[in-house]
Amino acid sequence: MEQIKIFCPATVANISCGFDVLGLALNNVGDEMVFTKNNSNKLKITKITGADLSTDLKENIVGIVAEAMVEKHKIDFGIDIEIHKKIKPGSGIGSSAASAAGTAFGVNALMGNVFSKKQLIEFAMLGEAFVGGSKVADNVAPALLGGITLIKSYQPFAYFSLPVPAALFVVVVHPQIELKTQDARKILPKQVPMKNAIAQSAHLASFVHALHTNNYKLLGTSLQDFLVEPHRKILIPLFDETKQEALKNGALGGGISGAGPSQFYLCKGKETALKVEQSIATRYQKHNIPAHVFHSEVNREGIYSF
Ligand code: HSE
Repeated sequence: MEQIKIFCPATVANISCGFDVLGLALNNVGDEMVFTKNNSNKLKITKITGADLSTDLKENIVGIVAEAMVEKHKIDFGIDIEIHKKIKPGSGIGSSAASAAGTAFGVNALMGNVFSKKQLIEFAMLGEAFVGGSKVADNVAPALLGGITLIKSYQPFAYFSLPVPAALFVVVVHPQIELKTQDARKILPKQVPMKNAIAQSAHLASFVHALHTNNYKLLGTSLQDFLVEPHRKILIPLFDETKQEALKNGALGGGISGAGPSQFYLCKGKETALKVEQSIATRYQKHNIPAHVFHSEVNREGIYSF
């Protein structure tokens, strides 16, 4: 293979009840990347559109991931990399993860698929650590695998893909401000009360049960965040009002997407998703706060070539 062109989906990490361990992939928004072999024996970021990012391999997540891969598996060719960002950095829907996971996928394809999916997630996590300060996989795993993923443990690294109910839709609202993951992590407490830890593990367990039993109502009531949302929601304009509006219009539940400022709301069926999307868009318009609101099915295949 001389060249591969790929779609790298946006993702919703945490899904309210699984901080740093749960994530899902979206269909309707994602970056595009192109990887082409060159004869110079060097990795090069040759083009970036859609965001103001460095082409220096040492300063771009793409370079961090690609260099780690060629360090581990020597190649006798170079690679030109084009990055077309459609996911805004600092949006909370996995912009850096799309670049990191996309690089792992694209470089691996040109190498002849020498690495496993698990290894690709681990390479992509190095990129996440570079930009966010923490080696988390709750965005990169669903970006690479599609669907809904659960990280069972980081050391040793282990994960599962969970079932996705057929009628599940996601509404996302992205208020047009940038929130750096690093900053959104700094405001979190180092310790949490025992009663919150208990409530959180019960809700994560019931979320997984709901997915396995197609129980939409339980899915919705499981989407509670006792650990993170209370601290982060102050960074997000109209957070409480948006949640109320979404639930009033039939959303199953939702909250902050990743580190924010985007929010996500899970819905059963497209009709409800459209209603929720419209009501949220109207609310932001009323307050004159620019926001991008959209709905999407869950992406079931992860990164793909086209
Ligand atoms: N779980 C991460 C966070 C997602 O909420 O900080 C961003 O990588």
